[in-house]
Amino acid sequence: KKVVLAYSGGLDTSIILKWLQTEYGCEVITFTADLGQGEELEPARQKAELLGITPENIHIVDVREEFVRDFVFPMFRANALYEGLYLLGTSIARPLISKHLVEIAHQHGADAVAHGATGKGNDQVRFELSAYALDPSIRVIAPWREWDLTSRTRLIEFAEQNQIPIAKDKRGEAPFSVDANLLHTSSEGKALENPAEEAPDYVYQRTVSPEEAPDQPEYLEIGFERGDAVSINGEALSPATILTRLNEYGRKHGIGRLDFVENRFVGMKSRGIYETPGGTILLEAHRGIEQITLDSGAGHLKDSIMPRYAELIYNGFWYSPEREMLQALIDKSQEHVTGTVRLKLYKGSAHTVGRWSDHSLYSEKHVTFEDDAGAYDQKDAAGFIRLNALRLKLVANRNARFK
Ligand code: ARG
Ligand code: SIN
Repeated sequence: KKVVLAYSGGLDTSIILKWLQTEYGCEVITFTADLGQGEELEPARQKAELLGITPENIHIVDVREEFVRDFVFPMFRANALYEGLYLLGTSIARPLISKHLVEIAHQHGADAVAHGATGKGNDQVRFELSAYALDPSIRVIAPWREWDLTSRTRLIEFAEQNQIPIAKDKRGEAPFSVDANLLHTSSEGKALENPAEEAPDYVYQRTVSPEEAPDQPEYLEIGFERGDAVSINGEALSPATILTRLNEYGRKHGIGRLDFVENRFVGMKSRGIYETPGGTILLEAHRGIEQITLDSGAGHLKDSIMPRYAELIYNGFWYSPEREMLQALIDKSQEHVTGTVRLKLYKGSAHTVGRWSDHSLYSEKHVTFEDDAGAYDQKDAAGFIRLNALRLKLVANRNARFK
């Protein structure tokens, strides 16, 4: 039996690797993705080899461009936010990881994939719904739902018994659970579990605090084509490069921190600290360019489906017919979302301060408070209001009779 494991090289997935070998008697194939989490991946290769994985069974893949181009950017066309605040940085990475797990399983003739998500969270749902959507006959092994290594102590014992190297700081309780990629870093658990308590400063890993950010604002310009960012300050850049650069701006100016209690799909509430520096700038910029390039009917329609779209991604339904249908609608809306946005970054905030486009619908001629040279006849508004008021008057008259 062969299984493809989503392997980070960390302690938990190393224990899972060993457990799959010993408890399941599986041949393990590892997949480690460079999603821009900012960690060296060669140590993961060495650790896999140390745990007895043969070189042809170790897959380490740089998926940063694919992640941003095929997952992050399509999602940003929708301005997706879960429960009004969360930019879905973990949620959007899971379907990509599953896609690679399934592809590698096919290459090796493996019949199962495995992941290190617990039985309490969203990630198990996302990994598995994605895997089943891409291969209905795949098997999924989720060790956290099966094994009896239910405490940190038992885990460490298992690691010691199996010669799995343990970093010094991992011997005690892990301080909290972190997931990172090019879009965000999320931290949950332990020191953060009481939502009444402010998160300690050491939780933040990729932004300076707004208080420490420069006292001088900084300006930048982001160019868009059909809803996707394509340049910064006039320089054409690849999707992953754009997000990497925006992360640097965001880090410096303390942009994109979020302390949030969310509703997990499995029913419980959970408190997380999120840092989405570049994504927060990108969302603001995208809204900025939509302001002048989207028709109001088109814009309001796509805004109205956004919460549904975001919930589908959060709940793990990236590979579902309804997500693809909504994506088609969103992508259609972006045909003219082309132009440039100028932003001002200052102490934790990113504000649009200018936007221009050849595709702009903004008509100064119509909106001006000065003489519009007959572009707009103000008298038209009288009839417009009279007809819109008609039903309101009928209702008011009816209600007066029943007072
Ligand atoms: N609560 C967030 C989400 O569901 C982040 C999950 C973080 N995952 C993790 N393995 N630490 O998208
Ligand atoms: C986990 O439980 O593995 C992480 C948190 C989540 O998936 O929501």
